[in-house]
Amino acid sequence: MKSFISISLFASIATAIWPLPLSYDHGNTVLWIGKDVQVNWSSAKVGFITYQNSPDSYGNNESNGGSPSSDDMVDFAIKQTYQTIFENGFVPWKFHPKGWEEPSEEEATYVKTIHLNLLQADPKNVAKPLVGQVDESYTLELTNEGEATIQANSTVGILRGLTTFTQLFFKHSDGGAYTMLAPVEIMDAPKFMHRGVNLDVSRNWFTVADIKRTIDAVAYNKMNRFHLHVTDSQSWPLDIPALPDLAKKGAYRPDLIYTAKDFKDIQYHAAIQGVEMITEIDMPGHTSSIWYSYPELISAFNVQPDWDTYAAEPPSGTLKLNSSAVDSFLEKLFDDLLPRVYPFSSYFHTGGDEVNKNAYKLDETVRSSDSAVLQPLMQKFVDRNHNQLRSLGLTPIVWEEMLLDWNLTLGEDVIVQTWQSDQAVADVVAKGHKALVGNYNYWYLDCGKGQWLDFDPSVSDQYWPYNDYCAPFHNWRLIYSYDPLSGVPPSLHHLVLGGEAHMWAEQTDPVNLDRMIWPRASAAAEVLWSGAKDAEGRNRSQTEASPRLSEMRERLVAKGIRAEPIQMVYCTMNGTQCQLGLT
Ligand SMILES: *[C@@H]1O[C@H](CO)[C@@H](O)[C@H](O)[C@H]1NC(C)=O
Ligand SMILES: *[C@@H]1O[C@H](CO)[C@@H](O)[C@H](O)[C@H]1NC(C)=O
Ligand SMILES: *[C@@H]1O[C@H](CO)[C@@H](O)[C@H](O)[C@H]1NC(C)=O
Ligand SMILES: *[C@@H]1O[C@H](CO)[C@@H](O)[C@H](O)[C@H]1NC(C)=O
Ligand SMILES: *[C@@H]1O[C@H](CO)[C@@H](O)[C@H](O)[C@H]1NC(C)=O
Ligand SMILES: *[C@@H]1O[C@H](CO)[C@@H](O)[C@H](O)[C@H]1NC(C)=O
Ligand SMILES: *[C@@H]1O[C@H](CO)[C@@H](O)[C@H](O)[C@H]1NC(C)=O
Repeated sequence: MKSFISISLFASIATAIWPLPLSYDHGNTVLWIGKDVQVNWSSAKVGFITYQNSPDSYGNNESNGGSPSSDDMVDFAIKQTYQTIFENGFVPWKFHPKGWEEPSEEEATYVKTIHLNLLQADPKNVAKPLVGQVDESYTLELTNEGEATIQANSTVGILRGLTTFTQLFFKHSDGGAYTMLAPVEIMDAPKFMHRGVNLDVSRNWFTVADIKRTIDAVAYNKMNRFHLHVTDSQSWPLDIPALPDLAKKGAYRPDLIYTAKDFKDIQYHAAIQGVEMITEIDMPGHTSSIWYSYPELISAFNVQPDWDTYAAEPPSGTLKLNSSAVDSFLEKLFDDLLPRVYPFSSYFHTGGDEVNKNAYKLDETVRSSDSAVLQPLMQKFVDRNHNQLRSLGLTPIVWEEMLLDWNLTLGEDVIVQTWQSDQAVADVVAKGHKALVGNYNYWYLDCGKGQWLDFDPSVSDQYWPYNDYCAPFHNWRLIYSYDPLSGVPPSLHHLVLGGEAHMWAEQTDPVNLDRMIWPRASAAAEVLWSGAKDAEGRNRSQTEASPRLSEMRERLVAKGIRAEPIQMVYCTMNGTQCQLGLT
C-alpha cells in the first residue's frame, strides 16, 4: 500500500464524483484495480462475476413485455462498470500541475472484491417506477485492503453506487487503473425524484445510436428519466403499425423512422440502466406532420406567409378540437402505442404547449378562437386522452399551459411540466399538482445560438443581431445557478418532483448533439441529485464544482460522448488560478 503525500495537496482536485454525494469521505491511499477483480452479486447466475465471465446478453423476457428484470439491470451495470474502468478510463494529467508523476505500480495493493448487497426485495416496478416507488440511495465503502461494498435498498441504488465506483478510478499511461482516494466512505441519495433530459427528435433526425448514447450519458449523470419528444409539426418519425402512413408520409423520409423494434430497443436500453423513458406525443398543437397522412384531422395547415398568426413555428397546424374523426384516430394511435410503452414506463406525456387559438377559427368543427367556446372542448379532448392512458395503466404528464392557461381540471395523478417561469412552478403546486421544473431561461439547451428563421431584407434590420427568443446561451454556470425550489413555499416543496434539461433540436442534429447537451445537462443533473444548496444552505460554489465538472467531461469523452470543455487546461491544472472575487 502506498500513500502519495506529494500529491495530497491536489487531492481536492482529482476527486471528482459528479453529481456530488450527500456525504463523501476519502483518504489518499493508492489502490489498483485489475480485470480479475471479482463482483460478489448474490443473484449472479455464474457465482462471482469477473471481467472474463461477465454476461454479454440480457434476457428480453417476452412474457413480461420485454421489461428488464433486476438481474438484467445489475448484470448490465457490472459489464458497464468493467468497460468504464478498463476500456473507457482517462489519464488525469489535466488535473495536476505540470511535472506530476502518476503513481507507480510497485508494491501495489489491488481491489479484490466488489460486494453488491441488496438490502431488500425490489418493488414490482423497479425498472418503471412512479415517483417515490424506488429508493435510489446507496452506501459505498472501499477499504485500504481493497474490499469494496455497495449497499442499497433497490437495484437502482446498486446501479447508482456502481456508477460512483467507476468515478474513483483513473487510467494509468502504462496501462491499468488505480484510485488515489482510499479509503472511501460514501452515503448518497438524490434530492429530487425526477431527474431528466428531454430530447426532441422531430425537428432534426437522430439515429437510434445517437439516442442510446444520450441515454448512456443521462444514466452516467445519475439521471433517471429520459423524455423523448418524438413527434412535432415538422416530422413524425415514430412508426405506428396500426397507422402505417403516419410515419411513412410524416417522416422527413420514409426510411428516417423509428420502427416498433427500434422504439422497444431504445426503451429497453434506458430501463436497464434505471432510466425510465417518457414518450411524448405533443397535442393538439405541434401536430402538423399528421396532415401528410390524415389531412382531414388538421386545421390551419401550413398557412403562408403569415404562419405566425397560427403557430409558434412553421408549418402551422393543429388537431381539430371538436371532431369525432380525431377522437377515433387518437384512440387507434394510443391503442397501438401505449401497450408498447407500458412494459418500460409508468408515464406518457400528452403535451399541450403553445396551442394557438387562432388556428381554430379555420377549424370547421369549431370556427372560433373564443376561449369560452374552446375551453370546454379542450377539457373534453384532454379528458378523453387521459382516460385512455389510465385504462392502459399509464399516468399522464402535460405541459403547464393545460393547467395555467386553459384552466383545465386535471386528475390528481397528472404531473404538470413547467417551462415558462418560476411563477408557473409556484402556481402549479399552489393548485395541488405535482410539478416538474425546467425554466427556459436556465434549462433550455438550445438557447443563444441565434435565430434559425431567415429574415427578408425588408425587415432584417428590425431583427438584427438575430437573437433567438431565449438568448443568451445558457452556460453551465447559469444552469447550475437555478434552484428548482426558488419561489415555492416550503410547505409545497414535496410537490416539486424534479425537472428536466431540454434539448430542442431546431439547430441540433447528430453532428453537434453531444456538445449541445454535455456537459451542460450535467449541471442540471447535479442540481437535481445534490440540490442547489450545500449542507449549510448556501448556494453551491462554482469554484468547487468546476474542476469536478471538468473531470466529468473527461469521463464522458472517454466513454465516447463528445462533451465540450468548460475551461482551459491552465485552469484545471491548478484549480485555484482561474477565479474572480475571491475574498
Ligand atoms: C419473465 O417474466 C415473468 C413475469 O414477470 C416471470 O414470472 C418469469 O420468471 C420471467 N422469466 C425469466 C426467465 O426471468
Ligand atoms: C458474498 O456476499 C454475500 C452477501 O451478499 C455474503 O454473504 C458472502 O459472504 C459473500 N461472499 C464472499 C466470499 O465474500
Ligand atoms: C435503506 O432504507 C433504510 C430504512 O428506510 C434507510 O435508513 C437507509 O438510509 C436506506 N438506504 C440505504 C443505502 O441503506
Ligand atoms: C361540436 O360538434 C357538434 C357535432 O358536430 C356540434 O353539434 C357542436 O355545435 C360543435 N361545437 C362547437 C362549439 O362548435
Ligand atoms: C383561464 O383563466 C384566466 C384567469 O381567470 C383567464 O384570463 C383565461 O382567459 C382563462 N383561459 C381560458 C382558456 O378560459
Ligand atoms: C443564491 O442563488 C440565487 C439564485 O438561485 C440568488 O438569487 C441568490 O442571490 C444567491 N444567494 C447568494 C447569497 O448569493
Ligand atoms: C497553484 O496556484 C496557487 C495560487 O496562485 C499557488 O499558490 C500555487 O503555488 C500553485 N501551485 C502550483 C503547483 O502551480
